[in-house]
Amino acid sequence: MFVFTKQPSIANQFIAELRDVSVQQDRLRFRRNLERLGELMAYEISKTLPYHNVNVPTPLGVSKTQLPRQQPVLATILRAGLPFHQGFTNFFDQAENAFAGAYRGYALGSNDEFEIAMDYISSPDLSGKTLILSDPMLATGRSLEKVYHALLRYGIPAQTHIAAVLASPEGIAYVQERLPQCHLWLGAIDDHLNDHFYIVPGLGDAGDLAFGQK
Ligand code: URA
Repeated sequence: MFVFTKQPSIANQFIAELRDVSVQQDRLRFRRNLERLGELMAYEISKTLPYHNVNVPTPLGVSKTQLPRQQPVLATILRAGLPFHQGFTNFFDQAENAFAGAYRGYALGSNDEFEIAMDYISSPDLSGKTLILSDPMLATGRSLEKVYHALLRYGIPAQTHIAAVLASPEGIAYVQERLPQCHLWLGAIDDHLNDHFYIVPGLGDAGDLAFGQK
């Protein structure tokens, strides 16, 4: 598991601005900070991809380098995932993309349990590819689990990276138990989930802050 805030970096500033009530009202800045974190995360994940040797012709000769063998498939969950996903597409600029619409649906019982509803999915073939599934908020982990399993209908990826900006300890434990084959990439780990399954201290509702209240 990789966590940005284990070592102070400029990522701390982007995360702090996402959380800060006096900054997060600026919707453009909120989306841009999610995008910047997607870019930084894409860079970190890029270090784990397979590379091959390439000769690049220049006007004066040939430059030998190593380039990614294949671009990963970039998947995200509508709608809060879109700005974070944009950051990944900025760096993996030829990647294929997958999208799923998933949200907290009907309450299941007395203790505020809820069902994850999925109403949309589109994906390229995933067989043998690297999949990066991003969602800014890893709260319970249940939407990520549901979307990951739905994506498997499009083929089994060679490896899967799950990227989130903020995660709860409960969500991390859930994903590690249910999806042990996936690698976790996180911005920061917060304290806990509240009774409404929001991350504390968190940042509030990422989708509403990025795009306005539903
Ligand atoms: N989704 C959000 O937007 N915020 C949370 O705290 C949890 C899930």
